[in-house]
Amino acid sequence: MKITAAITAVEAYTPEYILTNQELEKMVDTSDEWIRTRTGILERRILKEKGQGTSDIAVQAVNKLIQKRGISPLEIDLLICATVTPDMQFPATANIICDKAGAKNAWGYDLNAACSGFIYALVTASKFIETGTYQKIVVVGADKMSSIIDYQDRNTCIIFGDGGGAVLLEANTEGNGVLDACLYSDGSGRHHLHQKAGGSVKPATVETVQNREHYVYQEGQTVFKFAVVKMAEAAAEIMVKNQLKPEDIAYLVPHQANLRIIQATAERMGIGMDKVIVNIQKYGNTTNGTIPICLAEAQHLFKKGDNLVLAAFGGGFTWGSVYVKWAY
Ligand code: UT7
Repeated sequence: MKITAAITAVEAYTPEYILTNQELEKMVDTSDEWIRTRTGILERRILKEKGQGTSDIAVQAVNKLIQKRGISPLEIDLLICATVTPDMQFPATANIICDKAGAKNAWGYDLNAACSGFIYALVTASKFIETGTYQKIVVVGADKMSSIIDYQDRNTCIIFGDGGGAVLLEANTEGNGVLDACLYSDGSGRHHLHQKAGGSVKPATVETVQNREHYVYQEGQTVFKFAVVKMAEAAAEIMVKNQLKPEDIAYLVPHQANLRIIQATAERMGIGMDKVIVNIQKYGNTTNGTIPICLAEAQHLFKKGDNLVLAAFGGGFTWGSVYVKWAY
């Protein structure tokens, strides 16, 4: 019997502090109206507590996940953490999450594919289930974007927020779970969306800090043009590949970068916005957090056997889509 990797639980965590458009108006030369119409964002969450990082967001989601499924953390075989804001350069945030969650029998690693990280990690993890190698895998997508955002740069600070989520993957023999994926990357896109300093090419110096090079740098319009085409193409491609017609799709669960990109993707798929999970207005772009947060918040809408398409686009460039048949 064919084994597929089913999502058997999903939970999310977003920090309490709400950064509104009105507050941003006092920080940079912007307006609530501009942010709403260009992005669809009304507010985002910020992890304010000193000494807390991405693992603290993730572990809240993982703890809830374990509780919800009624399992012991000791049963987790592997934890993959998709993030661009690891607690530190090394060790991997996955190791820190496992330690904080008491997942003492798990091994783990981080995966960096910017905003597509969660879908890359989901597909990677599903292979360990399909091959029968492991029984329980946690896939985390989480970011503390506020740690790499320049709150003097109106091009980026209005977009991003902090948050994350986690899914549990387990074997399924009913044909539900992660069924297919179309994943892509194009490293020549790196020039348009990156963090200039802090890596091996340009380690931190007094100058890199003074030049504000430890923050997200984004050429918004260029990224928008690629994102709007590529995310829609990948979502349409997975439908063709799996002979899915618009009426076969229960929901599109897209990366939340810009409402206009999400609308273009839905249009390309031939589905109405009533079939699209959107929460960008509340959280902005949480990078690796967007899709698991959407899944967690919308899970009450999903029925067993529902066809979901997940789609993302991010720095790298990276992009893709995943076909998931909901399992519960
Ligand atoms: O998640 C990873 C992938 N990232 C994305 O998918 C993001 C893709 N890009 C976008 O979502 C959009 O490009 C942005 C939301 C970032 C920007 O929207 P845009 O419609 O592309 O605006 P723009 O950058 O072309 O700027 C239009 C104008 C400019 O002024 P001028 O040159 O027309 O006078 C900007 O200086 O808006 C100005 N502007 C702002 N005005 C008020 C830029 N940022 C702001 C701001 N408030 N926050």
